[in-house]
Amino acid sequence: MSKSKKILVTGVAGFLGSHLAEKLSQLNHKVVGIDNMSGGYEDNVPKNVEFFNFDCCNLEKMKEAMKGVEIVYHCAATAHEGLSVFSPFEITKNNYLASVSVFTAAVSNKVKRIIFCSSMARYGDQNTPFTEDMKPKPVDPYAISKVASENVLINLCELNNIEWVIAVPHNIIGPRQKYNDPFRNVVSIMINRMLQKKAPIIYGDGEQKRCFSYIDDCLTCLIPMLDQKNLNKQVINIGPDEEFVTINKVSEICSNITGSNLKPIYKKDRPREVKYASCSADKARKLLNYKTKTDLKTGITKTFNYIKERGVRPFDYNINLEIKNELTPETWLKKEF
Ligand SMILES: NC(=O)c1ccc[n+]([C@@H]2O[C@H](COP(=O)([O-])OP(=O)(O)OC[C@H]3O[C@@H](n4cnc5c(N)ncnc54)[C@H](O)[C@@H]3O)[C@@H](O)[C@H]2O)c1
Repeated sequence: MSKSKKILVTGVAGFLGSHLAEKLSQLNHKVVGIDNMSGGYEDNVPKNVEFFNFDCCNLEKMKEAMKGVEIVYHCAATAHEGLSVFSPFEITKNNYLASVSVFTAAVSNKVKRIIFCSSMARYGDQNTPFTEDMKPKPVDPYAISKVASENVLINLCELNNIEWVIAVPHNIIGPRQKYNDPFRNVVSIMINRMLQKKAPIIYGDGEQKRCFSYIDDCLTCLIPMLDQKNLNKQVINIGPDEEFVTINKVSEICSNITGSNLKPIYKKDRPREVKYASCSADKARKLLNYKTKTDLKTGITKTFNYIKERGVRPFDYNINLEIKNELTPETWLKKEF
């Protein structure tokens, strides 16, 4: 086990950030967590974390919170890829500008290493499975903001001799994921609707394909990133590449698990949605000894148990649509969820 360190985690009230912070504090690290509560749930913040509620774009506060910090995990984001086409300003601010602020504060504090949670969106519409040596080809504002953040991270770290790692997660599921957000998290949305006796909503023909990652399988990759030497300056996909499934199949699995027998409602394709997206886990297998431990059905069942226990919730349209036109999904325009 590595020596106890002071670690800062952004997005600590969010899904990934809260699990990561919890695991790090279980490993006896001292964890400082930042979140502005624009997403996530307040009770996600783990108990042993020193929590600050402010916006990562606040550079002065970021610098203050960085004091004595050795390692930074930057997980905060408005991780809404589909919505970014219609709310590019808000999403770019929380992804790009917030990242630049976090990296600036970290660099000025001379931290040892920064780990940035990017996204599979960086690859765009290339042949699957995506490998880390592919040139990023972002196709929407969310992906562009992730790639731009990666570039600034590398640029600042190289100049200032700070270690960096770029983790590339994709379609994570599990407890603590926001399930009343109408703009993202397909599995959680479907379960929240099915438990309310509402049919799942699918964009397009449902034949788009994804691999889903159970949260613990991502965590086992993220933890060694804090100090494993050979991970410095690496971009690494994290999560499984075994079960590449259609959204129709995901809907069927959710339906079987929840006991709902409602036929999906099909809506127009969402603009810029990539049809086939999956990441190769070969590099993670090689560098992190990665092995998928939770299969899709088990992951969905655990997500279902969490939502069922916490109780269904009405959907919360808490992000404004900045562009409303004939391309905007009516599910969002008319608040149909
Ligand atoms: N969940 C996935 O499937 C997935 C896939 C690929 C990449 N990622 C990336 O992993 C990271 C974590 O994703 P998640 O699913 O846990 O998202 P999440 O929405 O659950 O958590 C993100 C947290 O960041 C906070 N936040 C947003 N903007 C902020 C700001 N300006 N200042 C402070 N806090 C801010 C939100 O309040 C939220 O609690 C993100 O960077 C996301 O882009 C996630």
